Amino acid sequence: MSPLSISIIVAAAQNDAIGLDNALLYWLPDDMRRFRELTTGHTVVMGRRTWESLPKGALPNRRNIVLTRQPGYIAAGAEVFASLPEALTACRDEDVFIIGGASVYAEAMPLAQRIYLTRVHDTPAEADVFFPAIDAAEWFVASRQRHDADARHAKAFTFTDLWRHPLALFRHCPRCGSPRFVIGNAKSKRCDDCGFTYYFNPSAATVALIERQGAEGTEWLCVRRAKEPARGTLDLPGGFSDMFETSEEGVRREVLEETGLQVCQTEYLFSMPNQYAYSGFTVHTIDMFYRCRVDDDSVARAADDAAEVLWLRPSDICPDDFGLDSIRRGIKRLLGSMSADTA
Ligand SMILES: NC(=O)c1ccc[n+]([C@@H]2O[C@H](COP(=O)([O-])OP(=O)(O)OC[C@H]3O[C@@H](n4cnc5c(N)ncnc54)[C@H](OP(=O)(O)O)[C@@H]3O)[C@@H](O)[C@H]2O)c1
Ligand SMILES: [Zn+2]
Repeated sequence: MSPLSISIIVAAAQNDAIGLDNALLYWLPDDMRRFRELTTGHTVVMGRRTWESLPKGALPNRRNIVLTRQPGYIAAGAEVFASLPEALTACRDEDVFIIGGASVYAEAMPLAQRIYLTRVHDTPAEADVFFPAIDAAEWFVASRQRHDADARHAKAFTFTDLWRHPLALFRHCPRCGSPRFVIGNAKSKRCDDCGFTYYFNPSAATVALIERQGAEGTEWLCVRRAKEPARGTLDLPGGFSDMFETSEEGVRREVLEETGLQVCQTEYLFSMPNQYAYSGFTVHTIDMFYRCRVDDDSVARAADDAAEVLWLRPSDICPDDFGLDSIRRGIKRLLGSMSADTA
């Protein structure tokens, strides 16, 4: 599953009501506009009933995806999937917006990084669909913007952007064990009992681009991943930096461990932020790409995290064969800069 991002977007009343008789509860033009601005150019995923409630069918300038368990269901202008994971697998490197309804929101909630919530300042007497509860220990309010009622808007509302807190999994203070380990800001938690504060910053990692001149031109050294995540897919050598080593030392060590090659020169290229799911926790990384020269490229052999080493010509490389998001994006960038060089 590898969309670039998964966001939930919803307009909910104070009691979490979102619909009645397969229609929306409110007509709020400025909220509609914000919905259009946030989602245009991206992918929207919705349940079959929400799809059928759209007044003009597919939302324009967006990839529309409809979920239904009915085999053979046809939705003009949309793609149909039988489950959320299947739909998300088809959304590589896309920004995905989950647009309802209730069960789709509930299923997507543990996967989403953002919730764009429009909280309508009203408690309707009648509603038949509700947004699931938002856990305050997991979600951080990144911004709030109030919109008063006016001639075009019968109710006041507040745009509330929530981000999944990177430390949501850490529910107790690691120093004193208190459950009052609360969100401090977007990347910190603080203990209300002992005062311990923990800031979570991205972990440094390195990626090596190693080139050689083969019989048919330039080749890049790729490895096949021996371990999860993305086991069996292509990768570039590299890995997490250790404490007390420089990034350059880290990339040399990783290349040696995975391929047996001795790096003699490193040149920093660029970096890519990444999210690496490991052991049920999302590790945020900053992946630093280096062009590495090696002493003797003839001795490459796979070891450690690598199951196989392959020398591939850039023209034969397909970014989609690379299972890790930042590596795939880095490969695209490297291929793009090559074609810019030759253009
Ligand atoms: N306020 C808001 O922001 C907002 C946003 C969206 C919707 N709404 C409102 O919510 C209501 C519609 O929502 P709803 O909750 O009733 O229905 P819904 O979630 O839009 O659609 C439910 C249907 O989607 C399919 N589905 C759901 N989860 C699936 C899954 N995991 N795999 C495969 N298919 C799946 C099933 O279709 P089949 O039965 O065909 O198998 C299911 O019956 C309307 O009133 C709408 O106006 C409000
Ligand atoms: Zn404490």
